[in-house]
Amino acid sequence: MTGALYAVSDLHVSYPENRAVVDGLRPESADDWLIVAGDVGELFADIERTLAQLRDRFARVVWAPGNHELWTHPTDPVTLRGVARYEALVAMCRGLGVLTPEDDYPVWQGADGPVTVAPLFLLYDYSFRAPGTSTKEESLRVAYESGVVCTDEMLLHPDPYPDRESWCWARLAATERRLAATDPALPTVLINHWPLVRQPTDVLWFPEFAQWCGTERSADWHVRHRAAVAVYGHLHIPRTTHYDGVRFEEVSLGYPREWGRRGDEPRPMRRILGGAP
Ligand SMILES: [Fe+2]
Ligand SMILES: [Fe+2]
Repeated sequence: MTGALYAVSDLHVSYPENRAVVDGLRPESADDWLIVAGDVGELFADIERTLAQLRDRFARVVWAPGNHELWTHPTDPVTLRGVARYEALVAMCRGLGVLTPEDDYPVWQGADGPVTVAPLFLLYDYSFRAPGTSTKEESLRVAYESGVVCTDEMLLHPDPYPDRESWCWARLAATERRLAATDPALPTVLINHWPLVRQPTDVLWFPEFAQWCGTERSADWHVRHRAAVAVYGHLHIPRTTHYDGVRFEEVSLGYPREWGRRGDEPRPMRRILGGAP
């Protein structure tokens, strides 16, 4: 196989400028795979249309949800909340032939492989607390006082869980079992919308926002689950870093006001494995 494994996230297709960028995303070869690491958009129909478009072009599309897909947006005719909305997104992906965290993890057999490609949905549990705070309540209070509050507080419903952290912890337990059952001889590409470790959030402009960005409970997963690469988005700070010798790739496009600042035409697709160096 001569293809490459690419990744992108945070396409936020509610912005027409971003839809134009998505229209330009093309594989280099017929064997290329594309990882879509969450925040395609908010409206169910937008998410479906975009994933269908990408599925038509790439040999395989692997999706993990972001917080925006999980919102129950007041303008979305799909009014499902929480787990029911997530399950509807998974069913929609299956209809399109797009792989989700609920499917068997595919093995990338191309150059740099074989590698288990694992899309995850771990959410967050407010354990990346605001500076100087030691409980979720204190951390949230600091965020509300500073005016930096993630819209998830209004639109990402945890039903039937009592709160988002309970949903996160259930996801962590179920995902641990799935990862423990993967072939121990193969490295992995771990894909999660939120970074597995806290360090990427150290460069956030508003440190209070970190509490919506992950969980301390996945801090050693890149080591424990043999990651060759960890792919994430959500922060809208595209870059490559290394933790414990593992490459972390933040692959977001972000909002037009963000990528517009950087000047050049955005080229958000990042090569993760394989292909021409
Ligand atoms: Fe985003
Ligand atoms: Fe996000």
